[in-house]
Amino acid sequence: MNQIEIKGSNKTTNLEFVGSMDDVLSFISKSNQIIFVDKTLKTSTKALSDFLDERIEDVFLVDHAEENKNLFKAEEAYKFLTEKSINRDHEIVAIGGGALTDFAGFIAATFKRGIRLTLVPTSLLAQVDASIGGKTAINFSNVKNLVGSFYVPDNVVICSGFLKTLDQQEYLNGLAEVIKHAFITSDDEVNFIFNNIDKINRRDEKLLNEIIKRSIKIKADIVMEDFEEKGTRKFLNFGHTFGHGIESSNLDCPIFHGHAVVIGMIMAIKYSMHKNLLSMKNGFHAMDLISSFNFDFSKIKLDPNKIFQFMKSDKKNQNSQINLVLLKSFGKPELYEEGNPYELQEFIGDFVEDFRS
Ligand SMILES: NC(=O)c1ccc[n+]([C@@H]2O[C@H](COP(=O)([O-])OP(=O)(O)OC[C@H]3O[C@@H](n4cnc5c(N)ncnc54)[C@H](O)[C@@H]3O)[C@@H](O)[C@H]2O)c1
Repeated sequence: MNQIEIKGSNKTTNLEFVGSMDDVLSFISKSNQIIFVDKTLKTSTKALSDFLDERIEDVFLVDHAEENKNLFKAEEAYKFLTEKSINRDHEIVAIGGGALTDFAGFIAATFKRGIRLTLVPTSLLAQVDASIGGKTAINFSNVKNLVGSFYVPDNVVICSGFLKTLDQQEYLNGLAEVIKHAFITSDDEVNFIFNNIDKINRRDEKLLNEIIKRSIKIKADIVMEDFEEKGTRKFLNFGHTFGHGIESSNLDCPIFHGHAVVIGMIMAIKYSMHKNLLSMKNGFHAMDLISSFNFDFSKIKLDPNKIFQFMKSDKKNQNSQINLVLLKSFGKPELYEEGNPYELQEFIGDFVEDFRS
């Protein structure tokens, strides 16, 4: 299976898994393509670098994509496209991590009311998460992803070879999503990761291709069932309610989203056990799996009050109760409305004390 079709609300994405940079280049060598590329990637391999040098007139380079995922850069991009007389027969190709694919997706969605889009995600997070599901966005007024739209790409081209040059903690940042997808899907998915810990840590390309395919399929199936996030797509927030609270405790020195989600998942797992929803056996199995990877949590501050206050005021809460995604077993997530905030507050306090000791 080297191709998957993902049906969005009004369009289908063709997802291609390719084995080499030459295969990637064969997708992005058409004359009507404008290439948005993360500057780090420009020099990541000689083949890509030579290719981009040849096409330099058609290349829009973005340095520090997360910092530049904003309206100023968007204006530059619109000017670039206008000067090149780009129209709806053209296509934007985006090569980079999630910040770059979100940005390029936003430009493709808005320029001339939408032009064709091919994503070539290069970080693990972008491959299993950001490029799947059709969300595009830019940051505005210091708020992440405040302005954006749903815009389904025409093609997503995945090559696990890109991951060789990715920083270790960036790699684990993406692995957090893979682990989350497994937890909310089945015993089989969890065991598949468990049985391949060494290969994952070694970034074995063949295994990574398989892991990425499985993880994308999980997200794609959920997104296809619930494109507008009214039901099951909320399960993708497993670990996120706690995780966002953790991120809110670290605003002065931002941390990896994936690392916050991993701690958030540990909290959700422990809270599920605390509520007698999840068996001790599965709970400890899940935590063993997480600790098999070298997530660096050393710079993460955990402030129980901030975590709790954030969760209380989360805009996703409904019925004036704190909404959580908990786990009954692997593959059985549950939307849980916490009617007793004091119990949760006490749990968070105890967790933080334990976590640091
Ligand atoms: N659209 C969505 O559904 C969705 C989902 C999750 C995250 N996101 C967005 O994705 C972004 C995070 O994605 P990310 O973690 O990829 O961040 P990123 O794009 O900032 O990339 C992380 C770092 O890795 C570098 N990099 C990327 N690929 C590389 C490679 N192959 N080799 C070496 N370095 C490489 C980048 O230059 C950057 O320094 C955020 O902006 C987030 O909002 C979007």
